[in-house]
Amino acid sequence: MNTIVEVTTPSASYNVHVGTQLLAHVGSIVRNVNAGTRAFVITDSNVGPLYLEGVTHSLSNAGYMVFSAVFEAGEKSKHFGTLSTLLESVAAAELSRKDVIVALGGGVCGDMAGLCAALYLRGIDVVQVPTSLLAMVDSSVGGKTAIDLHAGKNLVGAFLQPRVVIADVNVLKTISAELFCDSTGEVIKHAVLADQALFNQLMRTPLLTADYNTQELIDIIARNVNIKRAIVQADEKEQGVRQKLNLGHTIGHAIEAASNFTLGHGSSVAAGLCCVVRGAAKLGWCNPSLLEPIERIVQAHGLPTTTNIDPAILFEFATHDKKRTAQSVNLILPTTIGAVTIQTISLTQLHQLIDAGCGK
Ligand code: GLY
Repeated sequence: MNTIVEVTTPSASYNVHVGTQLLAHVGSIVRNVNAGTRAFVITDSNVGPLYLEGVTHSLSNAGYMVFSAVFEAGEKSKHFGTLSTLLESVAAAELSRKDVIVALGGGVCGDMAGLCAALYLRGIDVVQVPTSLLAMVDSSVGGKTAIDLHAGKNLVGAFLQPRVVIADVNVLKTISAELFCDSTGEVIKHAVLADQALFNQLMRTPLLTADYNTQELIDIIARNVNIKRAIVQADEKEQGVRQKLNLGHTIGHAIEAASNFTLGHGSSVAAGLCCVVRGAAKLGWCNPSLLEPIERIVQAHGLPTTTNIDPAILFEFATHDKKRTAQSVNLILPTTIGAVTIQTISLTQLHQLIDAGCGK
């Protein structure tokens, strides 16, 4: 059965639809939240050939004049050049303040389209139509949008909550097994930080393919959205508890960037999670018994539990992380399976942690 999770933040209130057969209804769902006349679909070169025509048709049937732009798939596109090209296309299509941008794709697409919508005319509506598991469980919800700089990932961005999120699990059947597995890194992260029952379920039956029982898949995605909803509602702009969602990311982002983005985001987060728990356990900062189940669940999902990258290089990349304030970082550590704490540590301690967690 399809599910709707309602998200209410200080700046917006919106529904996250999770279910099947939703793509064909994108037009009517968007029409319920946006009264404009033009819709601009932003997608990438992987997703566009599969779903752009159908989504365009649906929006058209809902009365929109539909425009679109397709950018080259991949994290490497998340820069000012792509953003500027997309904004010029949106302007050429003469979208007004009442119109809507539709993000059709994975996390990179959600970021690009979301940031376009945040900037164009100082902000117009955006609708997120996530097509990867990672985007469904994480990036399409919560309003973060960003592009990368040479200095680091996601360094330029804005918060813009979507008007609605439409997650059709049927589209997951067309993504590669590798990408699907990669996305489970964020699902594991959510389970470790907030949901022991989900952790136990994934331990019993790992989420290895989109051929998972459809209802269970819908339930797992909705459960992840719900975890994110609770945190984003409490702290929309990441001043406090939202930092918990960065579990595994301090080292994970460093691994991802140091691999030159050859390792996927979810895989990097999974490895980062294991490294942080391993390092913290060795240093006496967290309960060492947490490491074994976390490594086991990561392995069961075919994800890496460590990295071969030199800890000194990881430290360099980690200190470019935007979450660093002055000479310290806020580190997220599990206290048990299903709960985390935020600890401020010095850069010297971060270096020790990376050496202990990622050293050979
Ligand atoms: N992906 C972490 C967040 O949205 O805050």
